[in-house]
Amino acid sequence: MTPDLLEEGAQRREQLATAAASGKTESGGRQAGFSRIATPGEVDVTHGRILYLEDVSVSFDGFKAINKLSLDIAPGELRCIIGPNGAGKTTMMDIITGKTRPDEGTVFFGSTIDLLRYNEPQIAQLGIGRKFQKPTVFEQLTVFENLELALKTDKRVHPSMVFRLDSAQGDQLAELLHTIHLADSVNRMAGNLSHGQKQWLEIGMLLVQEPRLLLLDEPVAGMTDEETERTAELFLTLKGKHSLMVVEHDMSFIRTISEIVTVLCDGSVLAQGTLDQVQADERVIEVYLGR
Ligand SMILES: Nc1ncnc2c1ncn2[C@@H]1O[C@H](COP(=O)(O)OP(=O)(O)OP(=O)(O)O)[C@@H](O)[C@H]1O
Ligand SMILES: [Mg+2]
Repeated sequence: MTPDLLEEGAQRREQLATAAASGKTESGGRQAGFSRIATPGEVDVTHGRILYLEDVSVSFDGFKAINKLSLDIAPGELRCIIGPNGAGKTTMMDIITGKTRPDEGTVFFGSTIDLLRYNEPQIAQLGIGRKFQKPTVFEQLTVFENLELALKTDKRVHPSMVFRLDSAQGDQLAELLHTIHLADSVNRMAGNLSHGQKQWLEIGMLLVQEPRLLLLDEPVAGMTDEETERTAELFLTLKGKHSLMVVEHDMSFIRTISEIVTVLCDGSVLAQGTLDQVQADERVIEVYLGR
């Protein structure tokens, strides 16, 4: 690449970042072309939704795991999803992230990006990060090296540009290490971290890619009470800057972080409201106690 092209690319990235920070889209809020691959920062949230699912269904060998599921999430929202085992929570995340194709329905990221047109790596690149239940960090590398690697594998950053961004990225990493409670463990081998710390590191590895939407499946499973509390703090810090969808069975954790709670059951929304509201709902009590 010529220096001119590099310069142009850097300027474009900066413009996109400024636009994203101001909430503007590149198209100035107009409908973007459907055939174009959108770049991160271009998610059009002028209709007040970052994620929109309508009448989504998927069957596995005739069993409807997701059944006419409709739900939407506002930009910056921290949405909690609860529901009994087998309700379809993980399958819903599989559909949003392109791991599973629904048989029917609509899945949009912002109001212009039809996620069903993209595959799993493209969806990650569009700005949807996913955290699976089991931590998957590189155990033989230090905390810092893990984060650095995540930064380098960010497909938006051209390898030859990495060195140009070093000082800004250094500041970004320092701030991130503080946010994920690992500032004191920067040179420790990831393999020597506690389970909770590994989970935070993996969340950090997602965050360096600056996702607009983060999907977290049972993030506090297996954590100590203290780690769970710190994770709640972390999520509350992330809210607003990112949109989060958090699936959890730990109700005291949900109580600490939740605004709106969606209850899934048999592949669709059974109830939605504050935790107190849904916990007082007869149908919710029935599915939790009646099984
Ligand atoms: N690839 C698949 N093939 C066949 N059945 C599947 C597949 N994925 C999920 N299922 C079934 O779909 C249903 C929903 O599963 P899912 O894992 O989404 O539930 P969940 O709400 O995440 O449950 P849990 O709280 O236990 O994690 C289950 O009955 C599960 O066995
Ligand atoms: Mg699950």
